[in-house]
Amino acid sequence: MAATKTLRMRSVGKAFRGPDGPVVVLKNLNLELEPGEVLLVTGPPGSGKSTLLSIGASLLRPTTGEVFVQSHRVSHLPEHRLASIRQQHVGFLFQDFQLVRGVSAVDNVKITLVPLGLMPTEAHRRALAALDAVDMGHRASQVVNYLSGGEQQRVAFARSLVHNPTLVFADEPTASVDQNTGNKMIQLLVEHKSRGATLIIASHDPVMINAPFVDRRLSFETIGLLVGP
Ligand SMILES: Nc1ncnc2c1ncn2[C@@H]1O[C@H](COP(=O)(O)OP(=O)(O)OP(=O)(O)O)[C@@H](O)[C@H]1O
Ligand SMILES: [Mg+2]
Repeated sequence: MAATKTLRMRSVGKAFRGPDGPVVVLKNLNLELEPGEVLLVTGPPGSGKSTLLSIGASLLRPTTGEVFVQSHRVSHLPEHRLASIRQQHVGFLFQDFQLVRGVSAVDNVKITLVPLGLMPTEAHRRALAALDAVDMGHRASQVVNYLSGGEQQRVAFARSLVHNPTLVFADEPTASVDQNTGNKMIQLLVEHKSRGATLIIASHDPVMINAPFVDRRLSFETIGLLVGP
């Protein structure tokens, strides 16, 4: 039944304005994902993976079509309504991390918890636990500018999962880490799948691509051409 779907996309298209006219990135994409389902998105650089994730997370509006998060038609809601839906339902690990510069790792993770209205000590405890889960508890007080790329990716990972979102978008989650750390991140994603989260992962990593917890795969061959699911 449609009401049980976590994420639905109907006839979604996306075109960006380019110097020589519109550049079509997504065309007539239809997708329905259930709680606990894991979708892996692959394709060459520039094929539209990050664009798809951003539209699913309601960070970007489609040019055509509709997007629903739970029962909310997010593609057509005004911006002021989207913030609370994202805060409640969505976790997003950005390909370029998008950590807040000049702020510590633990405070970066706490940003996700602010809208939940937790007591400061509880927010701190949960943020530390999320950092511990990615082996970054010992760097919690460090300003993120001074962390390595792999460390920053783990902080961003913790920030995207700390509020136990219904929908998790992970854009190249293992791109900057070694295989052991990558396996640990996959294990964390498996745990979130087990509690019923829907995961949408873009990845080039063969370990991630072949991971048994992936239920569905969708691949972009070239810009504007979609193959699957
Ligand atoms: N805001 C924007 N304005 C114009 N073009 C954009 C914009 N965002 C993305 N694009 C274009 O859309 C296409 C798809 O970009 P996207 O970032 O989704 O690719 P990707 O598959 O995630 O690539 P990568 O593997 O390098 O991360 C690219 O050609 C990109 O230049
Ligand atoms: Mg990308």
